[in-house]
Amino acid sequence: MSLALDNSSGSGFESKNEFIYAKVEMNIKLVPGNSAGTVTSFYLKSEGNSWDEVDMEFLGNTSGDPYVLHTNIFTKGMGNREQQFYLWFDPTTDFHTYSITWNPAHIVLVVDKKPIREYRNVDPNNNVPYPRDQPMKLYGSLWNADDWATRGGSVKTDWSKAPFTASFNNYTADGDKTAPWYSSELIDGDDLKQMQWVQKNYMIYNYCDDSNRFHGSLPAECGRKN
Ligand SMILES: *[C@@H]1O[C@H](CO)[C@@H](O)[C@H](O)[C@H]1NC(C)=O
Repeated sequence: MSLALDNSSGSGFESKNEFIYAKVEMNIKLVPGNSAGTVTSFYLKSEGNSWDEVDMEFLGNTSGDPYVLHTNIFTKGMGNREQQFYLWFDPTTDFHTYSITWNPAHIVLVVDKKPIREYRNVDPNNNVPYPRDQPMKLYGSLWNADDWATRGGSVKTDWSKAPFTASFNNYTADGDKTAPWYSSELIDGDDLKQMQWVQKNYMIYNYCDDSNRFHGSLPAECGRKN
């Protein structure tokens, strides 16, 4: 499927099914060339005004400058859990595989089999927010966000290059709670090494390192390996 964006509209899709816990996976080829101002997204989201959401958003850039993969996790309508990454490949020349695993133990974001982020359910007593009971659907979209996406909004969408297109294929969604993705094991071993490699070399923002923003007291889940 291809999504298009021009100066009259963006576009998107949503899954028919909704899930409480799932592993979803998609191959995506991002907008090539000058994609500044555009955002291509792949996310899970529940309904209502107290929603949960797990985001992978690809912030476009001018030709030759790197995309930013912006991730966030919302619980009961509250986000502020951003982590941002550069990618270690050009995401516009080929399809790459992006996945979200959401089970009772953790949420894991994976790029081409490398975990890049693990958000753990650190508190069995539910005092630390974790998406646990609102069913989510999978969404994909391509939209204009030139008020913030590229260099903080200073580079605008060049509409003379429209329509912009991003392509998606090989969608899978697994809600089978007997499957391996439902395991309560946390990221470890080689997967942990890969995640550490990505975070060390490609992470450009982590809310858990931004204590100024939270006036010196980081959110409860930080410091517990999120
Ligand atoms: C765009 O490129 C600039 C310059 O390399 C970089 O600072 C920025 O993080 C890139 N990505 C976005 C989305 O602005």
